[in-house]
Amino acid sequence: MKFEVRPGGVNTITTDAVIAGVFEGDEGLVGAAGELNAALGGIIADLISSGETKGKLNEVHVLHTLGKITPRLAVVAGMGKRAEWNTDKLRDLAGEVVRILSKHRARSAAFDLRVGGEGGPGHADLSRAVSEGCLLGAYQYKRHMTSDENSHEIGEIVLLENDNSMFDAMGAGLEMGRITAAAAMMARDMVNEPANHMTPSHMAERAREIASRHGLNIVVMDRAQMEKEKMGALLGVARGTSEPPNFIVMDYRGNPAGKEIIGLVGKGLTFDSGGISLKPQEFMSDMKGDMAGGAVVITVMDAIAQMKLAVNVTALIPATENLPGGRALKPGDVLKASNGKTIEVVNTDAEGRLILADALSYAVKNGLSPIVDLATLTGACHVALGDMYAGLFSNNRKLADQLVEAAGSGGEKLWQLPLPEEYKDLNKSEVADLKNSGGRYGGAITAALFLQEFVGETPWAHIDIAGTFMADKTRGVLVKGATGFGVRTLIRFIAGFSER
Ligand code: BES
Ligand code: MN
Ligand code: ZN
Repeated sequence: MKFEVRPGGVNTITTDAVIAGVFEGDEGLVGAAGELNAALGGIIADLISSGETKGKLNEVHVLHTLGKITPRLAVVAGMGKRAEWNTDKLRDLAGEVVRILSKHRARSAAFDLRVGGEGGPGHADLSRAVSEGCLLGAYQYKRHMTSDENSHEIGEIVLLENDNSMFDAMGAGLEMGRITAAAAMMARDMVNEPANHMTPSHMAERAREIASRHGLNIVVMDRAQMEKEKMGALLGVARGTSEPPNFIVMDYRGNPAGKEIIGLVGKGLTFDSGGISLKPQEFMSDMKGDMAGGAVVITVMDAIAQMKLAVNVTALIPATENLPGGRALKPGDVLKASNGKTIEVVNTDAEGRLILADALSYAVKNGLSPIVDLATLTGACHVALGDMYAGLFSNNRKLADQLVEAAGSGGEKLWQLPLPEEYKDLNKSEVADLKNSGGRYGGAITAALFLQEFVGETPWAHIDIAGTFMADKTRGVLVKGATGFGVRTLIRFIAGFSER
């Protein structure tokens, strides 16, 4: 999909389709909708007066223009209430529109963003929302389909703009959106990939491809190196599988003079059966995606390198399967993490916090600060916040605020949950320093409190994406399956550190 800013209007454009927005409850048709209405003999006014369209958000009508204008198709897109219009809504609407246009076999489409009114979002942000929305909404995972007759792609998206002083900002916005969406789509691919096609070795391969594309330093540690690092918790989880585990370290150095190195940590559990504490069947199939945090962290490195952000970032991905087996971890086993803390494994299905314990210890040991980890950590977080809000935990007010802000501007949502002192006892063991499950109640919180034991005083935030990593239906920018949740947030968060 290519993006371009071009002068012109609905009557001069030569794309297959042209899109004009209408607001709910607006009197009269303005901008593109007005021009389109005139060119098409009043058809949009008719749609509105008959009540067929109300301009409600994401209500999309596709009209065949039958030669009245060059585009074969005219799309009337509902934008909802004018006062509530923002870039999030545009992003989702763009996603809906491309999917519908694809069904109508359009090869190219032009958006007219002249929606009237002052004081709304700027041209760059609107443009970014269009390219993000179009790419994410059109995403499909078809790698394992040997034939696909229905495949159709929109090759070209044009933004119509007659003020050429806006071209640069809009072009830059489109490009930021393209890079961001490309990273999110790569993350979706990795998560959608079945576990036999996305082993820890495959994850390392994807990380290596990205690193070599941008000349990033990368180290992939194997079992022997993990042993040297005394990563007993990660190695414990990896005992049950014959698939080689690894620990991926990627470095991006966009600000060599700067001392600060942001640490990104992503859970890379490529299949979580639960281990000896085996999961019930109905909860197992999605667990090919238990490496979503790792996938997001890897693909964010690709995006920030492309954007050449003036920051330093190191990504850490502990990667393994969690399977039962003759040598697998057993309930009651005691492990020692690389920071020396001992952990009683009361439930082998609480494996995410074990592999993260070693990754967070490594981050602290290497001076990374702040540290942000992303993990499909607890079903409890899904229960608490549903599938639109990820849980945010942090020991640092400013860091938490920066993440909430970054998420909001990218159309992802974080909701902060507490790290209460009073609950710390729930993670205490009678035989070791900690146990790996604090029980059923407040499960997302006790998991986060467990992680906190491994970060010390370093500013740290944990994002639990167990509810948000998969979408159960297609809507807006989300396509049923992996969401790539966190990519848009982290890219914007890191851009906030860029000193340019
Ligand atoms: N990967 C799961 C959490 C999960 C559940 C992610 C559903 C996505 C969707 C994690 O390893 C897990 O099994 N957590 C347990 C923890 C419990 C045993 C303390 C859980 O949430 O049930
Ligand atoms: Mn588990
Ligand atoms: Zn897991």
